[in-house]
Amino acid sequence: KQCRLIGVPVQDGAGRRGCEMGPSAFRTADIAGAIAALGHGVSDLGNVAPLALRPPVHGNAALKLLPEVAGWTAALAEAAYAASAGPDALPVFMGGDHSLAAGTLTGLARRAAEEGRELFVLWLDAHPDFHTLDSSESGNLHGVPMAYATGRGGFDGYFPEAAVRIRPENVCMMGIRSVDPAEGLALETSGITVHDMRTIDEYGIAPLLRAFLRKVADARGLLHVSLDVDFLDPGIAPGVGTTVPGGATFREAHLVMEMLHDSGLVSSVDLVELNPFLDERGRTALLMVDLLASLLGRRVLDYPTRSFRPE
Ligand code: ARG
Ligand code: MN
Ligand code: MN
Ligand code: MN
Repeated sequence: KQCRLIGVPVQDGAGRRGCEMGPSAFRTADIAGAIAALGHGVSDLGNVAPLALRPPVHGNAALKLLPEVAGWTAALAEAAYAASAGPDALPVFMGGDHSLAAGTLTGLARRAAEEGRELFVLWLDAHPDFHTLDSSESGNLHGVPMAYATGRGGFDGYFPEAAVRIRPENVCMMGIRSVDPAEGLALETSGITVHDMRTIDEYGIAPLLRAFLRKVADARGLLHVSLDVDFLDPGIAPGVGTTVPGGATFREAHLVMEMLHDSGLVSSVDLVELNPFLDERGRTALLMVDLLASLLGRRVLDYPTRSFRPE
């Protein structure tokens, strides 16, 4: 694989400041070294900068920083389209809050369509982020990217027009355990596969993931993985602004990553919502790098000892 690291220091979509430090924390945790140690090519393309857009004022007065997030979305759709060119390319978007997925999902869907493939998305998150601009109550735009990318209404004229929409049937969400009423209602009829925490507890995470991976493989799809820090249990991943109890364990999260590696299907990754201002001595950043390494083929016997890690 040719891994392309892309920093996305956006925090305008989150309710609290700090995610703009995410890309720096990933670099400090030596994300590039962990990838290179597995034998992959790795290049750091630096950070994306937002465009300056001036969408009209929206009727939902709660919305925060809509022009800024729209500007990030436009810049990121282009960056994701460009960074996903080439058969071995594997862009890794280092967030930044989850609003960045509005741009990465649409840019990657455009790339897939151009190659005659369909984009599938594994959404690992406590939240579905399925609000429209009209339904968001918090006004935090990290709550809307999946609605935008799957073509729900109300974004026209405010967010950039998306060239290609993602089919809801191609999306699988895992780890969901905090859903606002408007999102829950819309999800029910959306066609998106939602494996909430109760489902994971009842069936186990592996069979649920295996079924989705089979679907992607049968369709010869490209697979984007969007990993929100709050997918993980706050006990192992405190460095995030939206902790929700009852998250994925260390073992579940690693198992998901190892199965993704074995599938050979993953073509791009978002690492989002890391807030280094809330982290404890970099442990969340280091865990996210560990998980990415497992996704890229690290096995138990390759597992680094403590002394390998940055201080
Ligand atoms: N649904 C809530 C909201 O709209 C929480 C969204 C959290 N999203 C995230 N990417 N952390 O505010
Ligand atoms: Mn999210
Ligand atoms: Mn979340
Ligand atoms: Mn591992």
